[in-house]
Amino acid sequence: MTPPRILRGRLLSFNRRPLSISDTESYVYEDDGGLLISEGRILAFGPFETVLLDAPEDCEVVDHRPNLILPGLIDTHLHFPQMQVIGSYAANLLEWLNTYTFVEEQRFADPAHGARIAVSFFDEMIRQGTTTAVAYCSVHKASADAYFAEASKRNMLMLGGKVLMDCNAPEALTDTPQSAYDDTKAVIADWHGKARNHVVISPRFALTSSHEQMEVTGALAREFPDLHIQTHLSENTAEIARALELYPEAQDYTDIYARYDLLGAKTLLGHAIHLSERERDVLNETGAVAVHCPTSNLFLGSGLFPFKDYETRDKPVRIAVATDIGGGTNYSMLKTMDEAYKIQQLRGERLNPLESFFAMTLGNAEALSLSERIGTLAPDSDADLVVLDARATPAMALKMDAITTLVEELFLLQTMGDDRAIAETYVAGSPAKSAL
Ligand code: GUN
Ligand code: ZN
Repeated sequence: MTPPRILRGRLLSFNRRPLSISDTESYVYEDDGGLLISEGRILAFGPFETVLLDAPEDCEVVDHRPNLILPGLIDTHLHFPQMQVIGSYAANLLEWLNTYTFVEEQRFADPAHGARIAVSFFDEMIRQGTTTAVAYCSVHKASADAYFAEASKRNMLMLGGKVLMDCNAPEALTDTPQSAYDDTKAVIADWHGKARNHVVISPRFALTSSHEQMEVTGALAREFPDLHIQTHLSENTAEIARALELYPEAQDYTDIYARYDLLGAKTLLGHAIHLSERERDVLNETGAVAVHCPTSNLFLGSGLFPFKDYETRDKPVRIAVATDIGGGTNYSMLKTMDEAYKIQQLRGERLNPLESFFAMTLGNAEALSLSERIGTLAPDSDADLVVLDARATPAMALKMDAITTLVEELFLLQTMGDDRAIAETYVAGSPAKSAL
C-alpha cells in the first residue's frame, strides 16, 4: 500500500473533446495544483493550498513544479510480439507481414521468449508515459500469458488478447477454429478481471481467418458481450482487394466483420483508412472505433487517415489514436500525435494541440469505454499519471523561452518531445519510471 501523497505541479485534465484551439471550457488547468492520491486512486484535485488543507497531516508532498501533470497516456493499438520487427524495410503492408512479422511472431511459441520480451515491453511503456495499452499478442496462448503476467506484476491497466489466425500465414503461426476458441476462452478464464487486466477478442484480420474461424469469433463475441474486440480494417488497398476475394459475399471490407457480429461500441478497428461513406455510416451506427496509427501509416505507405472527415460528418466515426508498434516507428504517444498532425497537414486539415492531448488521454479512454477509471484527473479515477517536462532537452528549453501559453507548450511537447520529456510515470499511485 502506498501512503497518501500530494503531487504538486501544473495540472491539466480534459472533460470533453476541445472544439477549437481556444476552447478553454474543454479542460481544467491548475497552475499551482495539488493532486491527492492514495491507494492507487485520485482523492482530490484542486489548487495546491486547498488540497493541502484537507489532506491527512502526515501527507508527503512531491513537488513536480514547473512540470505538467496529466492523466497517463493511452495507446489503443500495438503489437507486443513486434518489438524486434520495428524498422523492418518493406514496400508495403503485405510484404512487411510476410517477410518479417510472421517470421518474428513464431518465436513467441517459446514461453521464455515471451516472458523476456514482456519485461522490455512494459519497461518501454513506462519510459514513454503510457500507462494503458491495447496489445495484440501472438497466436500462441503463452504470449498472452506472458503479457498479462507482467501487466499484473506492474499493476498496470492493460488490454490484450491472443491473436486468432488460421490461414494464409506460416503453419507455425496458425491455430484452428477450435483451438482459437478454446485458447481464447482459457485466456479469458485465466486473466480477465484479474489484477487490472482486460482480455480482448483479437481476430488478426479478414485475410488470416477462415469463414469457420470468423463464426467462432462471432460466437465468442456473443458469449462475452462485455469484452473488447480488436482487428484490422482497410489499411492498404491490396489488403482490401484480397479481403473481398476471400469474402465475395460481403458488400465491402467492413461488412465482413458485420456479418459475424463483430461490430459494436467495444470494437477497435486498426487503421480504417480507406472507408466508403457506407462503411463510415456502419461504424457510426455500431459505435465501432477507427484506430488511427499515424507513424505506421506513413512508414508502410498505407494512406492518409481522414481524421477531420470522420469527426465532422453528420454521422461521425469514433476515433482513437495509437502507435501500432512494430508497423509504427515510435513508442511515444507524443511523437504519434506529431505525425498525426503532419498527416492532417497533408490533407489540408488542422489538428490542434488541445485535441491531440485530449486524444492521448480522455479521448482514448472514452474510445475504450474506460473513462470512468482512466484518462482524467477527476477524483475517484485511478492514479495513472504522466509528468511532462517541456524543457527536457536544450533545444526544447530554448524554444520554451520563446513561449507564453499553455497551448504553445503542448504543441512544443508534441512536436519536439519524446521519452525524454516524460519526467515521471505514475502507475496506480506509485512512481514507476524513476523505479526502472
Ligand atoms: N494487419 C494484420 N496484421 C497486421 C499487423 O501486425 N500490423 C499491421 N500494421 N497491420 C496488420
Ligand atoms: Zn496492428
